[in-house]
Amino acid sequence: MNILIAKNAGFCFGVERAISLVEETLVNNKKVYTYGPIIHNPIVVSKLESRGVKVIYDLNELNSGDLLIIRSHGIAKKLYCDIERKNIKIIDATCPFVKKAYNAAEKLSREGCFVVILGDRKHPEVEGIISYVDGEYVVISSSLEAIKLRKKEKIGYLAQTTQDRKLFMSIKDILTLKCDNLKVLDTICNATYLRQKDARDAAEKVELMLIVGGKNSGNTNRLFQICSEICKKSYFIETINDLNNIDFQGINNVGISAGASTPNYLINEVIEYLNEVSYVRDKW
Ligand code: F3S
Repeated sequence: MNILIAKNAGFCFGVERAISLVEETLVNNKKVYTYGPIIHNPIVVSKLESRGVKVIYDLNELNSGDLLIIRSHGIAKKLYCDIERKNIKIIDATCPFVKKAYNAAEKLSREGCFVVILGDRKHPEVEGIISYVDGEYVVISSSLEAIKLRKKEKIGYLAQTTQDRKLFMSIKDILTLKCDNLKVLDTICNATYLRQKDARDAAEKVELMLIVGGKNSGNTNRLFQICSEICKKSYFIETINDLNNIDFQGINNVGISAGASTPNYLINEVIEYLNEVSYVRDKW
């Protein structure tokens, strides 16, 4: 069995940085808090939990002087003020590319645009982006929703950092017809773009594609969507236990891609599993 690992699979720069900050903080602190899970991978989060990293969802769970790490997705603008008021110490692991998206939203809004955000309405990053808009906005996730928009004078268009650039560009064309003045700020991060491009390339070459990552990870879900459109036998797996239900009979070429919050050791476990399947199969 040939195994093709997509280039740029697994941890991205922003996630790597956030995890390093947690590790560094744990050296001198026994108890550390993160606002929401530090990354969208339940396995990594539960490992960190056992080392003293507690996930909170409400600032009321904290006391003055506690240490809070802001995850790579960032937080809403108002929360920074609340944190300061409560005298909570912070380490800000917000990814610089996410900050760029926040700044883009603020800029477009300040320029008087009706802000159109391509993203998942409930994703923390999108909630953060919205918090920087001081005026009218809408969050959309498909071309159809863009088609349904009413005409506006001035539209400012941006995206959650992990969106599909192909979709971003096709919606841009629709928005051109929806206003007299369209301002576009492409806030999709390059790591996302490359990860999606490489996953596409891999899916085109194999008979079966495995996408490794947390089911709660938006960017991993998008990789799965992209691969499923190209390779019918695409599977979303969180751990190697999920591989037991997949039939590898007659499959000679398997591709692997992984979301930005998937650690390398999980990808390696999948590779080991496939090597074993291949070894046993060839032996028989
Ligand atoms: Fe940052 Fe892009 Fe990763 S926005 S957190 S480098 S997917």
